[in-house]
Amino acid sequence: MNLQDFELLAGILKHRSGLVLSKEKVYLLESRLMSVARKYGFKNLDEVAGSIRLRRDEALLDAITEAMTTNESLFFRDIKPFEILREKVLPQIMAGRSNRRIRIWSAACSSGQEPYSMCMLLKEQRHKLDGWRIEIVATDLSREMLEKAKSGMYTQFEVQRGLPIAMMVKYFKQTGDKWQIDASLRSMVTFREFNLLEDPLALGTFDIVFCRNVLIYFDPATKRKVLDGMSRLLPHDGVLFLGGAETVLGVTDRFQPVPGQRGVYALADSVDTMRRAAV
Ligand SMILES: C[S@@+](CC[C@H](N)C(=O)[O-])C[C@H]1O[C@@H](n2cnc3c(N)ncnc32)[C@H](O)[C@@H]1O
Repeated sequence: MNLQDFELLAGILKHRSGLVLSKEKVYLLESRLMSVARKYGFKNLDEVAGSIRLRRDEALLDAITEAMTTNESLFFRDIKPFEILREKVLPQIMAGRSNRRIRIWSAACSSGQEPYSMCMLLKEQRHKLDGWRIEIVATDLSREMLEKAKSGMYTQFEVQRGLPIAMMVKYFKQTGDKWQIDASLRSMVTFREFNLLEDPLALGTFDIVFCRNVLIYFDPATKRKVLDGMSRLLPHDGVLFLGGAETVLGVTDRFQPVPGQRGVYALADSVDTMRRAAV
């Protein structure tokens, strides 16, 4: 692929999703976009680029963007964030909610393992959550991933990754060579298409946000824009979870790491108050 075609396609990707592709990743573009090219009747990516230059086909541009997303996910990914959610964050948020309502956002949920891990965690805690209404909204840019997430259908390999066997037996049913998560858990999540480049206030406000393993693909300006948007939809005691390779430090000063809770961030003013209270 020549440099101009690479820059055209990488530019489209950045503009539509925030995903940044460096020139060394040209192989990734070539390998992932060949199936899109074939589906649209092109012989190669030169033809795709030529067609885009002539005419903007929104469906083709969406397909290109979607094909370039990395959708890797697993149940209870990194485990620790889910333990912190159960042991620290949920009790702390519950203590501050007299209306007994909590909203959680799984931003960039991919094929659904993250929000369904939350559902299993909540089910296991149901004796403590009696009378509480907990809403989970899970969003992603990829329609294909959202369809898979809604179906709650996973391969043997996927259910074996991260999921304790007892939970697999308890919450999944085997259908053919796939495993489907129980309908009662599927009904706990509202899946919606949402691009993180848009204003998140369109989704309402949230008490807890998981935005894990997606900011790593964005440039600093996009990371800042996304995080600043999230800071506007959290209440003063709201909490943000990021992936293990992600941080707010050097990106935005609206969030600060919560002391002693790796990967967990709160609004900067709240963390300052926590620190003062601890002295
Ligand atoms: C690696 S997965 C992370 C899944 C899950 N959060 C986890 O940690 O396992 C990244 C997801 O981000 C989504 N994504 C990428 N850019 C996005 C954007 N601009 N808006 C919404 N989702 C996006 C991709 O479609 C993909 O499903």
